[in-house]
Amino acid sequence: MKRIVILTGAGISKESGLDTFRDKDGIWSKVRLEDVATPEGFEADPKRVQAFYNARRRQLQDPSIRPNSAHEALAHLERQGGHEVLIVTQNIDDLHERAGSRNLIHMHGEMLKARCLMCGSVLAWAEDIEVHTPCPACAREGGLRPHVVWFGEMPLGMDRIYAELSRADLFLSIGTSGNVYPAAGFVAHVRGFGRAHTVELNLEPSEGASHFAERIHGPASRIVPDFIARLLSEP
Ligand code: APR
Repeated sequence: MKRIVILTGAGISKESGLDTFRDKDGIWSKVRLEDVATPEGFEADPKRVQAFYNARRRQLQDPSIRPNSAHEALAHLERQGGHEVLIVTQNIDDLHERAGSRNLIHMHGEMLKARCLMCGSVLAWAEDIEVHTPCPACAREGGLRPHVVWFGEMPLGMDRIYAELSRADLFLSIGTSGNVYPAAGFVAHVRGFGRAHTVELNLEPSEGASHFAERIHGPASRIVPDFIARLLSEP
């Protein structure tokens, strides 16, 4: 029985048809993150921010967007029950859930949830959010935003994440460029306890590649199922 903590980023969802952020054709090459992924951007132009997330929320619900074999391999690892598995995802899509993963922390929030700034409610949300969409819980207008963590805001679940990292026997980092903290610092945090094996599984070496004891490069849909099969074949 191993305690396995798995960090995932946009690269695991790329082959499902969702863009990454920092690849050459990525999201931040098409729109300024300052404009759509910061509290200041929301304050300055809420209409633009809602439109940005409305388009991505609609795309995520397109029937062509489905979990790929990497998401499925991680869900299988959790279900087969031989190990304790926690996925900490930076992704705001629901592809891990749709693949069957349950023990999951969305540290950057979720595209299919909305948060009311007036009453604090966090609600499942599949439709568009407009500037004046009333909150179903408190009926007030003008306070609904995507339940997504923006730059400068505190990621979610950090206490539990650090507790799990400190207990991990194996830390996997999948499909993330290692550019954004605190997630980019998880591998150094784990290594500080001197016990866990650390593996990067990414299309190409990430910013933090040198921190990992093992590095496997290639498309997630191939290298992740291969790695999980190897892990499950070990005694
Ligand atoms: N298989 C595996 N890895 C891939 C694939 C693939 N098919 N395609 C791309 N990658 C890798 C890229 O090489 C890159 O290292 O996925 C990584 C994606 O990096 P980013 O675009 O920076 O995405 P991510 O690391 O998830 O960004 C972290 O930054 O913008 C914020 O909040 C946003 O959660 C996001 C955070």
